[in-house]
Amino acid sequence: SKLLLLNGPNLNLLGQREPNVYGTQTLDDIIATLKTQASQRQCELLSFQSNAEHELVERIHQARSEGIDVIIINPGALTHTSIALRDALLGVSIPFIEIHLSNIFAREAFRHQSYLSDIAAGVIMGLGPVGYELALQAALSKTQSR
Ligand code: DQA
Repeated sequence: SKLLLLNGPNLNLLGQREPNVYGTQTLDDIIATLKTQASQRQCELLSFQSNAEHELVERIHQARSEGIDVIIINPGALTHTSIALRDALLGVSIPFIEIHLSNIFAREAFRHQSYLSDIAAGVIMGLGPVGYELALQAALSKTQSR
């Protein structure tokens, strides 16, 4: 199977950004762990991070022609603002899992709304980097049981 991991704005700062909220692991650490775990299950994991909404939209479009089975996405703050990301995911009709390091419901009210959750296959939040691993496991059991 073939999976795509997407990370939105500011997630390139993981490790140094508000470590009390987001932990001390860098995005590269998280991606390296996930790639290892994916390859152990004969799965190819592609990864892309961008601070720009349009680049994420275009990466999602590209995923269709690449035959991506499942997208795992931490949209960062675009979670709470981006109808364009929602429409891109609907447009390619690739199942996706939404993840957040923090529990967005334990934070400011403006983070309680997601433009993606109601169309996601599932949502994982509040568990830090482990949430990425859980999303990978869920994606693998989705694709490898088909
Ligand atoms: C986040 C939560 C968002 O509210 C925030 O804007 C982020 C990260 C998380 O992983 O907890 O950038 O998606």
